[in-house]
Amino acid sequence: MTSFIETTQDGPVRTLTINRPDKLNALSQEVLDDLQRAIVALGNAQQVRAAVITGAGKAFVAGADIAAMREMSEWQGRDFSATGHRVFHLIEKLQFPVIAAVNGFALGGGCELALACDFIYASSKAKFGQPEVGLGIIPGFGGTQRLPRRVGAAMARELIYTGKVIDADEAQRIGLANAVFPPDDLLAAAQRTAADIATKGPHAVAVAKRLITQGMEKPLLEAISAENDAFASCFVTEDQSEGMTAFLEKRAPDFKG
Ligand code: COA
Repeated sequence: MTSFIETTQDGPVRTLTINRPDKLNALSQEVLDDLQRAIVALGNAQQVRAAVITGAGKAFVAGADIAAMREMSEWQGRDFSATGHRVFHLIEKLQFPVIAAVNGFALGGGCELALACDFIYASSKAKFGQPEVGLGIIPGFGGTQRLPRRVGAAMARELIYTGKVIDADEAQRIGLANAVFPPDDLLAAAQRTAADIATKGPHAVAVAKRLITQGMEKPLLEAISAENDAFASCFVTEDQSEGMTAFLEKRAPDFKG
């Protein structure tokens, strides 16, 4: 069965490529369904320790599928948005980091997909934006919430109210993208960082991801209390014993995960 998501695996790093280039990888219900299946498979894959999401062709994802949305009723819109929320939240729930390698247009749902990933690497050709208000709707796959958390409320307000599209350098300047690469180097750079993460203690990385994601929603004292518990819990793992023993024995750690 063909899927809109292409999967490749290199050691502990899995790469998902959204593959609907004729429609600039627009997120239809079918693409979201395939993405959900690919993410569930990612969660089940024992050998994976980091992942990369990118797009085929000249777009990362040019948004939710406008043709499919045009005739939606209120309740179909509610369901479509809920689907996007569920799929993107699954990415946040994965026990390892996911890097968005934004190769081109990341507009609307594409920008929201990138925001649900742990961080963004951008091609110098990437373009970011939340142009929904120009279509008479709002960002409905998390953009009104994740964008202000990433770039601050005032910057998110400007981007969402104007719908303006920004280039990769501007995205990096405002903290939306961590780094910008020449187009031909982007995917390899994201995969290299993913491979580097994969050499670290998998339990520790998973716990750090959970604490950062959940901690952003909590008052500081509650969040650092969760960190305190999680830090203590590391000391009953093999990762901690192996990581520290390897350091003291002057060798590379061999984490079992
Ligand atoms: N939903 C559905 N189809 C889309 C799409 C989307 N979000 N974005 C692009 N497409 C389709 C186009 O309709 C076109 O289909 P066609 O060849 O059958 O006519 C195809 O993808 C190629 O897009 P095109 O507009 O011809 O490419 P371009 O290079 O001239 O422009 C964009 C690229 C990204 C500027 C333009 O496609 C665009 O503005 N897309 C919509 C962005 C948006 O508003 N996203 C938020 C949606 S909520």
